[in-house]
Amino acid sequence: MANILSRIVMSQTKPVYASFRSIGAYVPSKILSNTELEKMVDTTDEWIVKRTGIKERHIAAEDEYTSDMGTKAAELAISRAGLETEDIDLVLCATVTPDYFNMPSTACIISDKLGIKNVQAFDISAACSGFVYLLTVAKAFIESGMKKNVLIIGAEKFSTIVDYTDRSTCILFGDGAGAAVICATDNKEEAFVDVHASADGSYADFLVTPAPGAINPVSEKVIKEGLNFVRMKGNETFKLAVKTLTKDVKEILEKNEIHAENIPHFIPHQANYRIIKAVGDALNMREDQVVLTVHKYGNTSAASIPMAINDIYESGRLKKGELMLLDTFGGGLTWASALLPFAGENI
Ligand code: ACO
Repeated sequence: MANILSRIVMSQTKPVYASFRSIGAYVPSKILSNTELEKMVDTTDEWIVKRTGIKERHIAAEDEYTSDMGTKAAELAISRAGLETEDIDLVLCATVTPDYFNMPSTACIISDKLGIKNVQAFDISAACSGFVYLLTVAKAFIESGMKKNVLIIGAEKFSTIVDYTDRSTCILFGDGAGAAVICATDNKEEAFVDVHASADGSYADFLVTPAPGAINPVSEKVIKEGLNFVRMKGNETFKLAVKTLTKDVKEILEKNEIHAENIPHFIPHQANYRIIKAVGDALNMREDQVVLTVHKYGNTSAASIPMAINDIYESGRLKKGELMLLDTFGGGLTWASALLPFAGENI
C-alpha cells in the first residue's frame, strides 16, 4: 500500500513542461502587389515600401475561408510533429476574422475539417497578439496536466475587413495561416523558457472594427458608413508599438538573464519594417538575428508570427534546440512575448 502511495505521489510531482514541437503555415496563392494597389487607391509603390517595407501581400480566394487556411497549416504542423489527428487533445484558434462572427468558433470548424472529434476547441480574440496569447494558454493546459498535445492556430482572412478604398489601411494587411503543436515533455531542455501576455483596454479605439457586434448590429447604417471595416489610428499605434515591443522584450530577456546578442531568431510581429527596425536597433540586434517576412506577406495579424517561424523553418534556418524570441502587439491593445527553444525535428 505504502509503495503504491509513493508511486502515485512521485507520478504527481514529476514536472511537465510545454515544448514547441512543430510548425506549419499556409499562404494563399493570389498576390496583391503594390502596383495593383496603385490602381485602386491614391498611393505609390515607393510610399508603401518606404513607410512600411511591404512589397506584396497574399489574398485568399473568395471561397477560401479562415478555417480552410487554418486547416492546411494545422495538417502540416501535426504531421511535422510526428503525430496523428487523434493525438491532439485541444484545438485553439486565434483570429479576428473568424468564419462566423458569433458561432460556431473557427477552432470547432477546423477540428471538424481535420476529423478531430470529442476534443475541446475554442477561439481567442487578441488581434495580432493572438498566436503568442495561445502559447500562454497551451502552456497552462499542459503544465496543469490537463492536456498533452495542443494544436494552436493563428489564421486570418483579413481582406474581409479591409476597406479597399482606404489607402491608410488597405496597403497593410494580408491573409494567411500558421499553426504549431505544443506538446508535454519532461525534458527541461525542450521547455518554454518564458511567456508573457498583457493588455490595456484604454487604447481600444486605436484599432477597431466597429461592426458587426452588439453595439453595431448589421444594419443599413453599418453598410453605408463602412462600420464593418477595420479602422486604425496608424501613427499613434506605430509609436505605442515601438515603445511597448521594446519594453516587453527587454523585460523578458532581463528576467531570464539572456543577452539579446545570444538570440539566434528574433521573430517580431510583422506589421511594419520601420517598427521592426526600431525595436531591433533598440536591442542592438544584428540583421541576421531578425526574421523579416513583412515585405512578402504584409501584416497577417494572428498568422504573422507562425508564418514567419514557418518561413525560417522551411528555409532550413531554424534548427532543433535553437532559441526563438517572439514579440507582438495588436488591437485591444494587446501585447505578448515568448522565449522558447524550437523542439521539433529539422526539415
Ligand atoms: N499612400 C500615400 N500616402 C498615404 C498613404 C498611402 N497608402 N496612407 C497614408 N498616407 C498619407 C496620409 O494621408 C498623410 O498625409 P498628410 O500628411 O497629407 O495628412 C501622410 O501619408 C502621413 O500619414 P501617417 O498616418 O502619419 O503615416 P505614417 O508614417 O504613420 O505611416 C502607417 C502610416 C504605415 C499606417 C503606420 O502608421 C503604421 O504602420 N502604423 C502601425 C500599424 C500597426 O503596427 N498595427 C499593429 C497592429 S495591427 C492589428 O492588431 C490587427
